[in-house]
Amino acid sequence: MRRRKFLKLTGLSTGAVLTGGSGFLISLSGCKKEHHLGLMTKPVLVNEGKFSNLLTFNAQAGVNQTLTAQATTANIMGALIPVLGYQPNSLLGPTFRVKNGNAVNVLLQNNLQEHTNIHWHGLKIPALMDGHPDQLANAGGTFRYQFTVNQRAGLSWYHPHPHENTGKQVFKGLAGLFIINDAEEAALNLPSGQFEIPLMIQDKRISDSGITYNPSMEEVMSGYMGESILVNGVSSPFTEVETRFYRLRILNASNARIYNLAFSNNSDMIILGNDGGLLKNPVTVKDILIGPGERLDILINFSGLVIGTELFLFSKEFTNGGAAQGKQTFKIMKFKVTTTVTDMFSVPANLSSINTIPASTALRTRLFDISNAMEHHGYAMNDGMTMRHRINGKLFDGNRLDESVTANTNEIWVFDNSKGDEPHPMHLHGVFFQVLERNGGRGSKIASENGWKDTVLLMPGETVRVLVPFENNTGKFVFHCHNLEHEDDGMMLQYQLN
Ligand code: C2O
Ligand code: CU
Ligand code: CU
Repeated sequence: MRRRKFLKLTGLSTGAVLTGGSGFLISLSGCKKEHHLGLMTKPVLVNEGKFSNLLTFNAQAGVNQTLTAQATTANIMGALIPVLGYQPNSLLGPTFRVKNGNAVNVLLQNNLQEHTNIHWHGLKIPALMDGHPDQLANAGGTFRYQFTVNQRAGLSWYHPHPHENTGKQVFKGLAGLFIINDAEEAALNLPSGQFEIPLMIQDKRISDSGITYNPSMEEVMSGYMGESILVNGVSSPFTEVETRFYRLRILNASNARIYNLAFSNNSDMIILGNDGGLLKNPVTVKDILIGPGERLDILINFSGLVIGTELFLFSKEFTNGGAAQGKQTFKIMKFKVTTTVTDMFSVPANLSSINTIPASTALRTRLFDISNAMEHHGYAMNDGMTMRHRINGKLFDGNRLDESVTANTNEIWVFDNSKGDEPHPMHLHGVFFQVLERNGGRGSKIASENGWKDTVLLMPGETVRVLVPFENNTGKFVFHCHNLEHEDDGMMLQYQLN
């Protein structure tokens, strides 16, 4: 039974028992937990601001750092509103910038009224430090994270991961960046200092009473989106630039919104890296999709532009994003050229050495059905199963281990959204993987999917195969859809590495 058949039913009140087109009984009682795939999901249109707010950057964190999750206020769009943050008077948390090999010691002080924790998204650290949903700091309590960074340079991030509350806590402001540097990256002499700009892109729904998070059933289906785009916590910002290369370190920290990034002057974007650090070679594109949880390391060249030129990073309309995504072109931030300089930088032809792992080394293949299209899978809608976001028909259960993996083996994991009608950015904790192929939908790997990834976007109709080298970081980890409403709805499983 496909979504379209349900559209005519969406006016009915919850609690009703419907007889669908195929005669299945569908219980709609208990709205939040028993929504169904037939509900009409609509795009949330972006209100572009005036691009008159100066882009700012979060404070720098130290390797010994306290992060205090708290209700605080922040000035957004000219008004002081209630938000969540990891420091007083601001959205978001400080940015870590560490060297490979550094020891990190973070005390999470939980001053919220509910439990929280921190997941270090993109860090290969021990399972007990990873922010698994069962490792929580209770309200008023603490959790100490101690680990040694042992991986190549790249842009990672951190955010809460308490099951069923991740979406709310991230949306209201809990997230931060974690940048790792190493010698290989330093040798490239990429633009640095003020010429290396972290851009944490998020959409928020903002009212006088704060950042609103109250997803309807439809918004659990599509994911929760906001009408205001913030970069580093600043709405519709601008920054001044010189006529030279800049390195943009981009994170899509939105709950559900996908961006198709491009520049308004149709400038080339040179992709240097992604979730897991540098690519082997730079790739030049005009636009690039970035799903929730994904990162991009991009060079942009402003040389040759006349002083006074204003250009925008924007999100271009895109197709195949399901009913709610890609329907609008909107601006994200403004760059204003203010200074002419001579730039001697030239883009390195080789960035890093990446060993491509042959698919033939995989010991086994695991298949994960993420389509959530019930008619195709014999899911028993007529014996009480309600419509939720599942993986292989299963909802998250912290007491159940779903996959058992042997340490130091390679596996192929296949995410199958071929029958699905929603995008799903799939994320694995504890590992990086290589994308082997995509079938259906866009039909192939995209430019930012070489090298190492920890999150891969599946548009409706797509099946993606990834090669995962599991090393010896044993323990229990989760993997899930990084659309945070889908994740909180249960689209998350656990693997145990032994
Ligand atoms: Cu950024 Cu389990 O997620
Ligand atoms: Cu993660
Ligand atoms: Cu999803």
